[in-house]
Amino acid sequence: MKNEMNIIEAMKERRSVRTFDGDGLDTQQISELEQAVENSSSPFGGSLTIKLKKFNLKEGYKPSTYGMIKGAEDFFLLGIGSDEESALTAGYRFEQVVLKAWQMGLGSCWIAATFKGSDFDKGITWPEGEELKVICPVGKAEKPSMKEKLTRLTLGSKNRKPFDDLFFYKDFKTAVPEDNLFREALEMLRVAPSSTNSQPWRALVAGDTVHFYYKPKSPASVLDTGIGICHFHETERFYGHDGDFSKISVAPVPPENWRYLVSYTRTK
Ligand SMILES: Cc1cc2nc3c(=O)[nH]c(=O)nc-3n(C[C@H](O)[C@H](O)[C@H](O)COP(=O)(O)O)c2cc1C
Repeated sequence: MKNEMNIIEAMKERRSVRTFDGDGLDTQQISELEQAVENSSSPFGGSLTIKLKKFNLKEGYKPSTYGMIKGAEDFFLLGIGSDEESALTAGYRFEQVVLKAWQMGLGSCWIAATFKGSDFDKGITWPEGEELKVICPVGKAEKPSMKEKLTRLTLGSKNRKPFDDLFFYKDFKTAVPEDNLFREALEMLRVAPSSTNSQPWRALVAGDTVHFYYKPKSPASVLDTGIGICHFHETERFYGHDGDFSKISVAPVPPENWRYLVSYTRTK
């Protein structure tokens, strides 16, 4: 069997896939992905349910993604609570599954806007307080359709904001030094996917702590930042480090309208 790529390679290479081969997942792939859901976890609490559901294209039932997704019959459905913790957890936990799928050679695409909710969760009851807010097709990637190419171009999906526009050192004005202990983990955060590629995450490094903020850009901005923090923490762990997340009562006051989310302190 081919060696699986490591998590750093997966974060660097992953891209959203919207065009699939139409064959659907086999039972082995389904059980590996269900295991990945089981293995995923989050330090942020909140309420999240992840389901993997098959829609048989050959039987003619195709829930609507407004033509954005082609040839997928397997979809993750995310029931997410309405508070900040649930949004953070959804981003942080489900990105672990997205990366695992990429390591298995499968493409996927977080979708928070371009789908008809009622088509997807017909007959499903979510735990109290949760609602279907995200779907995600998963399967073997096919050559991108014209529509997918156009979507990527319009969103500038290949590009990310410069490091120094997002991450700061000590005072929100100074750039993070090249040899800073968090440089690589923040670089991996930078390449994370976000809704309309809006990259709302911001961070301030202070000693062995990183304070995370977000710049409100859409209803998905907290969830997006959870995805980014997942990349950050996976990188820390890949290089043998770890730390604790906590919400501190007096976080450094950020510029403009950034909102404080959580802080990470390296302990190892
Ligand atoms: C929370 C979230 C919601 C998204 N919603 C949609 C969507 O509704 N439709 C879509 O085509 N892409 C959606 N995307 C994919 C983003 O457009 C994509 O991640 C971004 O453009 C960066 O491209 P990349 O994932 O290929 O690196 C979403 C991504 C995230 C993280």
